[in-house]
Amino acid sequence: MEDVSDPPFRAVCKDGGADLMYTEFISSEGLIRHAAKSKQKLDIFEYERPIGIQLFGGDIGNMAESARIATEVNPDLIDINYGCPVKAVACRGAGAALLQDIPKMVKMTEEVVKATHLPVTVKTRLGWDDQTKNIVEVAERLQDIGIQALTVHGRTRVQMYKGDADWELIGKIKENPRMHIPIFGNGDIDSPEKAIEYKDRFGVDGVMIGRAAIGYPWIFREIKHYLSAGEKHPAPTINERVEATRKHFQFSIRWKGDKLGVFEMRRHYSNYFKSLPDFKPYRTQLVEAPTAEDVYELLDEIEEGYSLSLV
Ligand SMILES: Cc1cc2nc3c(=O)[nH]c(=O)nc-3n(C[C@H](O)[C@H](O)[C@H](O)COP(=O)(O)O)c2cc1C
Repeated sequence: MEDVSDPPFRAVCKDGGADLMYTEFISSEGLIRHAAKSKQKLDIFEYERPIGIQLFGGDIGNMAESARIATEVNPDLIDINYGCPVKAVACRGAGAALLQDIPKMVKMTEEVVKATHLPVTVKTRLGWDDQTKNIVEVAERLQDIGIQALTVHGRTRVQMYKGDADWELIGKIKENPRMHIPIFGNGDIDSPEKAIEYKDRFGVDGVMIGRAAIGYPWIFREIKHYLSAGEKHPAPTINERVEATRKHFQFSIRWKGDKLGVFEMRRHYSNYFKSLPDFKPYRTQLVEAPTAEDVYELLDEIEEGYSLSLV
């Protein structure tokens, strides 16, 4: 997720039990131009494996070239984004825009597959709009030119993030007897119960989780526990919440530097401590804390305060 799944976020998701993670999407043009922001998104770490690098772009040659550049940092996978609906991307012929030109999407994918020795995966949506929900054929064509897995977000581009994700059509991809690559369903999974229900009902090989992991990386272990043990994993303790926040913060500082690390962490605090009673005054202090030391002190205080009040 753009502006979310950077290395600090991925570190806590890995601890939380994520099996496979991807970088934020990276502009193919940005990589080719050596834009600092795009280059920085190529930072991946051994402990993250298996890790995929996600690319987007509207030009076939540039996509192939960016796949070569991404291959040099040795991720486990290269993923292509054909799902991003935002205007700045889709109106420039990239992301979900390719859903309006399937022959170009197929050609682009083929060139990316040829440009790297790594497995290539694709992330996309059901179609551009209600009239063009052609994911069942698209899936087959992409498989035929060599992708190794497909993730489908159960909405169209026109829907953006509105309404409920429709998984029926994702299930239809799996019903196609010609399909043999793993199909991952995506959209609105926010609990272990829903993950298992949808996995069973629609026959997908896995579920991909976006928003529900923001401030709640334990979603992954909770789903896996529910799947293997058939019962709910206990909710994270206050110590686990503080520990995850501390780690996310520490990695942010290390990766982005003090100033940006402190600043960008501010949007995460309320997510990590969402269900705690009377958290607001602490949140205010955390987002106003000027230095890393202040944040660490506040986190200690929160851990101590809530541990006492919750026993
Ligand atoms: C802030 C934000 C940024 C996102 N950035 C990306 C991205 O870079 N690449 C991608 O494939 N999907 C991206 N998505 C879409 C999510 O991966 C996912 O498909 C969508 O949120 C639906 O799944 P969810 O209900 O589990 O969140 C983003 C979503 C959000 C909310």
